[in-house]
Amino acid sequence: MAVNMKGKSLVSINDLTLEEMYQIFDLAQSLKIRKLSGEPHKVLEGKTLGMIFSKPSTRTRISFETGIYHLGGIGLYFGPNDLQLGKSENIHDTAKVLSRYLDGIMIRTFSHQDVVDLAKYSSIPVINGLTDLLHPCQVLTDLFTILEKKRVLRGLNMAYLGDGNNMAHSLLHGCSKVGMDLVLATPSNYKPAKEIVENAKKNAAYMGSKIEITEDPAEAVKDADIIYTDVWASMGQESEAAERKQHFMQYQINPELVKNAKDDYIFMHCLPAHRGDEVVNEVIDSENSVVFDEAENRLHTQKAIMALVM
Ligand code: CP
Ligand code: NVA
Repeated sequence: MAVNMKGKSLVSINDLTLEEMYQIFDLAQSLKIRKLSGEPHKVLEGKTLGMIFSKPSTRTRISFETGIYHLGGIGLYFGPNDLQLGKSENIHDTAKVLSRYLDGIMIRTFSHQDVVDLAKYSSIPVINGLTDLLHPCQVLTDLFTILEKKRVLRGLNMAYLGDGNNMAHSLLHGCSKVGMDLVLATPSNYKPAKEIVENAKKNAAYMGSKIEITEDPAEAVKDADIIYTDVWASMGQESEAAERKQHFMQYQINPELVKNAKDDYIFMHCLPAHRGDEVVNEVIDSENSVVFDEAENRLHTQKAIMALVM
């Protein structure tokens, strides 16, 4: 039985049930097949998605915008200087007004609370396209990609190396919900948020899997099915890049480190990658790397999300 998700916002993976997550993966797969075989799938004919970006984007913007067109709808892009949002108009009023024009909102911004508030005051679904805290659409796509490559999720081992940032937080939500083991290796001052780790540990206990936090990169990667990394300085942290590099260098994914993983491990990265920092060319360009499948799957997974909630 399909779960009705119409009108539901996607602010955090933690707001989804396991059934809803698998419904997204199933629909993403069927929309991918329909797209690749040229079969029309205009299930959102006449609908309009507003896309608000306070930060730059390649994948998120292009995949949402082409995705809504494939579904028969239209996408309206609003850049950092286009809206009154949070400047001369508060979130409450913006949410109420946008709800009168649009059928859905996708937003990428700095403050996670702004997205929580936008969803609270909107009568249309709000999709989180990245905040400083979370990146749920990316991790739903990553889980869909792992399912394509490995055929299962539950019981796999993922190692995430690098910053305890928005990607680490959404991976904690996503992996723990589906019952994947996740080891996060970060420098001591760059650990993920305590509440999110505690919550993930509870989810994992329910699913019979485990969440571990370490500072030892080799230990994290041992017997991994998946090695994941992200930039060391996220959007908005550019001025800290040089200092961060010193702390993160030992977490670089290179041929020596990946020897500890399983032979058929897959390498993942949300992109954009800083080659030579968090990952070297020999790994990101290797046969184990699935980074461009991940990028492609943003399109199919987000089309599934839009089709379900809009
Ligand atoms: N992975 C991701 O969200 O990429 P963009 O920043 O290019 O959208
Ligand atoms: N952690 C990165 C992810 C980019 C998709 C950032 O927030 O910049």
